[in-house]
Amino acid sequence: MASSMRSLLSDHRRYFEAFRSFLSNSTEHQCMQEFMDKQLPGIIARIGDAKSEIKILSIGGGAGEMDLQILSKFRARYPGVPIINEVIEPSAEQITKYKELVAKTSNLENIKFVWHKETSSEYQNRVMEKKEIQKWDFIHMIQMLYYVKDIPATLKFFHSLLATNAKILIILASGNSGWGKLWKKYGPRLPRNDLCLYITSSHLTQILDNLGIKYECYDLLSTMDITDCFIEGNENGELLWDFLTETCNFTATAPPGLKAEIMKDLQEPELSIRKEGKVLFNSSMSFIVIEP
Ligand SMILES: C[S@@+](CC[C@H](N)C(=O)[O-])C[C@H]1O[C@@H](n2cnc3c(N)ncnc32)[C@H](O)[C@@H]1O
Repeated sequence: MASSMRSLLSDHRRYFEAFRSFLSNSTEHQCMQEFMDKQLPGIIARIGDAKSEIKILSIGGGAGEMDLQILSKFRARYPGVPIINEVIEPSAEQITKYKELVAKTSNLENIKFVWHKETSSEYQNRVMEKKEIQKWDFIHMIQMLYYVKDIPATLKFFHSLLATNAKILIILASGNSGWGKLWKKYGPRLPRNDLCLYITSSHLTQILDNLGIKYECYDLLSTMDITDCFIEGNENGELLWDFLTETCNFTATAPPGLKAEIMKDLQEPELSIRKEGKVLFNSSMSFIVIEP
């Protein structure tokens, strides 16, 4: 690995620029929306039974778009039941965006929002130190487990916080996606530090099996338009390169040989398909539902 390559998450501004570019060029949130509309109502059908309030914990909620979708399903299933929605999110900028979104969204009465600017492990330490173990009815971790250092310990801890009938929803890259293949082959040559673990649902389900935690796993197809990655100097393409490789300024800092190799593989049918002149990367996701 070239020494000048560094993890994308080490530069927060660039990370969120690349993430926004990824969202605008992919069906990521549409695919999640489909899951929320079709599967989530059944998954949460019994969570709030006989409860006077519902407690939801969002880990890495970002700007809140998906969090609000989840909340709308709880409101529809349990009209009038007060909801407490606490958010664990280390980025102050994302929390500001989340608050702005809440401020301009209607039908959120009955929901109390609390934001904590911290990582999941900081939350874990805070809770353990205070010895105030609060139970939760629904915990979700959407596209954030890559950034957690000790995944087994994190899963074990959050699993221990589940109340009666509660569930955890984890969304992350499917083991069968282009991400899985890309990271398996190139992960060792990309910045490897504790800021990003190149994990997919294949690793996660192995960890859950080892912990003896029961789960159900659903896969949904999502794609990312990476056509701009093949246009030299294209700004959007550069951001997408960063997001694909989780590397800050990848095209400027990667050894030329590495970029050429990845570029060739990105066009292979196991990673992408060609449609109407576009190159669509397979960014399928797994939706993992865990029970107490
Ligand atoms: C890919 S974004 C996903 C945001 C949102 N869940 C979504 O899907 O739109 C990852 C989020 O995880 C947050 N994050 C990074 N490391 C974290 C950690 N250790 N604990 C909690 N959140 C973290 C980031 O700040 C970012 O908002």
